[in-house]
Amino acid sequence: MKRIVIFASGSGSNAENIIKYFQKNKLAKVTLVLSNKSAANVLVRAKKLSVPSKTFNKSELINSDRIANILRNESPDLVVLAGFLLKFPKTILKDFPNKVINIHPALLPKYGGKGMYGMLVHESVVKNKESETGITIHYVNENYDEGTILFQKSFQLSENDTSESVANKIHELEYEFFPKVIEEILDKG
Ligand code: GAR
Repeated sequence: MKRIVIFASGSGSNAENIIKYFQKNKLAKVTLVLSNKSAANVLVRAKKLSVPSKTFNKSELINSDRIANILRNESPDLVVLAGFLLKFPKTILKDFPNKVINIHPALLPKYGGKGMYGMLVHESVVKNKESETGITIHYVNENYDEGTILFQKSFQLSENDTSESVANKIHELEYEFFPKVIEEILDKG
């Protein structure tokens, strides 16, 4: 069975959805959730679903081998960033070439880059009166939101859309497609 490790910083609704998807699927399972926020709700979700979790701080991620060692031990087939706020270190990327993916709540390269996270993305999309937005799943490289794009799904925005309605539509797309894209990658690998 293939092994998935999830990094998340916040609510973790995508993490929960991925965990549940692979609890019903023999191809893979989520073996560990890692978070840089000790109060993040993703940790509560992981516990409820009996998935082990660990927390760390930014300095441990960047200046120590702790996370690299945890990952080496875990030996994941895929590392999934699901709402992870920090830049993923290139020292760790080196150990997992083409094995780290991220989901972004916009059609990259639009609305990507440092600080473009969660609601801020949707607020910018609505403010700029974009005609469409969507989700992007991509390999992670050493720059924010710039790795090779694996999958995108878009939808049209209406005049009535607000950042909240866009966030809900984005989440629905993420729940539908993120586990499937993960499954496809693991199936091929
Ligand atoms: C998701 O919409 C994800 O695309 C976004 O954060 C949200 C996390 O929601 N990621 C980014 O903005 C990355 N730049 P969740 O914690 O409920 O899964």
